[in-house]
Amino acid sequence: MNAELINVLVLDAEPLLHASIATELADSQAACTMASGVEGACELLRTRPFDALIVDTERPGPGVAELLTTAARVAPDCRVVLVAGAEGRDGLAQGIMMGAEDYVEKPFKPGELAEVLHKVLGGTPSAAAWSLADDGTMQWRREPTRAALAAVRQLVLATEARDPLTRRHHEHVAHYATGLAELIGLSRAQVESIRIAALVHDVGKMSVPIHILLKQGRLNSREFEYIRRHPEVGADLLANLTLFKDEADLVRHHHESWDGRGYPDGLACREIPVGARIIHVADAMDGMLMSRTYKRAYSTEEMLSELIRCAGTQYDRDVASAAIRWCAEHPDQLILPVTDAASATRIAASVA
Ligand SMILES: [Fe+2]
Ligand SMILES: [Fe+2]
Repeated sequence: MNAELINVLVLDAEPLLHASIATELADSQAACTMASGVEGACELLRTRPFDALIVDTERPGPGVAELLTTAARVAPDCRVVLVAGAEGRDGLAQGIMMGAEDYVEKPFKPGELAEVLHKVLGGTPSAAAWSLADDGTMQWRREPTRAALAAVRQLVLATEARDPLTRRHHEHVAHYATGLAELIGLSRAQVESIRIAALVHDVGKMSVPIHILLKQGRLNSREFEYIRRHPEVGADLLANLTLFKDEADLVRHHHESWDGRGYPDGLACREIPVGARIIHVADAMDGMLMSRTYKRAYSTEEMLSELIRCAGTQYDRDVASAAIRWCAEHPDQLILPVTDAASATRIAASVA
């Protein structure tokens, strides 16, 4: 990638979106080329190097699948970012499954598309799993972990794309879990393992039918059974990638409860891996602070009271205490719905 100028191809956005993408990218050292139609875009991809391709999932004509298949063949190094609206949600999930690296939703806020684009272009390319060292031995390197993780993260993004209210949930949980693990004083390797597991903890929700994920009322027992299976499905997926054995364990147990009433295995207290206890609390923090199809967003104050109320039953008391301390020490790092952000500092300060 040219550090000075990013070459971006934008395909078939509606005129208004064309204009806003161009404006957005003009301030971020990006040269923006607009293409009309898949054929025209493919011709451009064949003849000129592009760092990124932006595709509107509500575009008319051939679907996202056909387009991304072609792009992957003629320009495999070109990173794909999707722009999605309410009507393009099927195309969004499908596009991510087919290799699009991230997405923004319409209408996007100023700077949002540029931020996603820079994040995607700053990623590390994949590399071979083992490399031959100077002494003739085969040595494992960190890059393949990133490559495998990137593949699982694509599944995670596809899962998040199915339910708009869970956007960025995994990043939020990883943010909290990392903070709690550091505060508790775990080793660097443990913190990194917890961060990775948190980034993919709900990947098993791929197996939950969309009507259950989006259901607003109470789930019946059969529907809840699908939800209960997601930690196992996710853990099995990770366990198959042999580099992620430890993280698979954390994913499997992220819904275990301190009192033994969680799932899938009903582990209790210190039978539950510490990383899973941490992710459980971090998951609850984000789940409470953001709205879901079945509940409104809690205020920071309500979230903290709930952590206190359930400490020693649902949550490990030590982890819950760490979370309360972390919130008090880092009020500006809480990720809140926009309207609640102003009250975070005041409330967190009150529990310090
Ligand atoms: Fe979960
Ligand atoms: Fe979660």
